[in-house]
Amino acid sequence: PCGAQRLTASLSPLSTPTETELPAPYGLWMEIASSLPQLIASRQLRSRLHQLSAGDLSGREELHLAHLVLSFLTMGYLWQEGEEGAVKVLPRNLAVPFWEVSQRLGLPPILSHADFVLANWKRKTPGRNLDPIISLPGGESLRGFILVTLLVEKAAVPGIKVLRSRKPAGARVTVYDLISLLDYVDPAVFYSVIRIFLSGWRDNPAMPHGLVYQGVSEEPLAYSGGSAAQSSVLHAFDELLGIRHSTDFLLCCSFAAAFLHRMRDYMPPPHRAFVEEIQRAPSLRQHVLSSGNGKLCAAFNQCVSALTDFRTHHIAIVTKYITTPADGAGPPPGKPPSLLEAKGTGGSHIFRFLKSVRDTTREGMISA
Ligand code: ALA
Repeated sequence: PCGAQRLTASLSPLSTPTETELPAPYGLWMEIASSLPQLIASRQLRSRLHQLSAGDLSGREELHLAHLVLSFLTMGYLWQEGEEGAVKVLPRNLAVPFWEVSQRLGLPPILSHADFVLANWKRKTPGRNLDPIISLPGGESLRGFILVTLLVEKAAVPGIKVLRSRKPAGARVTVYDLISLLDYVDPAVFYSVIRIFLSGWRDNPAMPHGLVYQGVSEEPLAYSGGSAAQSSVLHAFDELLGIRHSTDFLLCCSFAAAFLHRMRDYMPPPHRAFVEEIQRAPSLRQHVLSSGNGKLCAAFNQCVSALTDFRTHHIAIVTKYITTPADGAGPPPGKPPSLLEAKGTGGSHIFRFLKSVRDTTREGMISA
């Protein structure tokens, strides 16, 4: 019960989404989006989506909600038949409004972390219970995955506030407690049912040629699937601590750096701008180094060490949720996608990427 309470805890430091319903002309979008799991299970989603048409939207809240809805509809449309039945063309009535809304927001026309997690929550009751606004197949496991990821974002808020105010944090980040709530997510369901719907059409062997957005471009376009690397939080901490995932193509870790940098294009523009502002600011690491202050160096190294540990923990989670189910331990609830075994939904080579990023983080320690 304690875990359940925390899972549905208040998210007051995040701005509350005041919009959870689109206006009347988009009623059909909302209606279809709210039944995605059922429509995908009954193989009716694609035919329902052919009935959509576009109209006018105004205001950032509405636009973000429209992006959230259209991104979920698009993922459902693409992957309704599993990895072997992916379509190559997104029909005009979905592609054109999705493209227009994306252009207005400066977001890519695909489901990103900003949709899946940041914009996708509402209060179930006027009290404190949370629910995703839009779901895909995966039931309670999907709900748990979305909400735990959201709570990890929330746990980072005190750290981000320190970044802005330069005052000490009032609360300790309890990321590990939150991650333990992932127990709500069944690894077999995550692996066999949920992952495919986060997959994109770049660096994905199931869609090697990208996707034609009908009415937008005759050439196929390639976009990476959803990835936690699109969250601005760790980018901000990396920049603060001067952890530079080098893009020098001669270095073995350059692919990880290139991927991380590309993921910034999938963040909402104000998030991207915030990370870049920290990058341009005078170097904290340089300041600590030149201070010659042992206590300061130790405090700095504690931060680097916590970030390294967090990334090691992430590798263990990936083993539990991807490697072990892929090895076939336990009966899967559905036919698992086989092409994503070694890859993240964002398209990275998952272990090579995570280990490289963790090792570069560790190198950020200041030696005595
Ligand atoms: N990026 C996560 C995965 O690869 C969701 O499964």
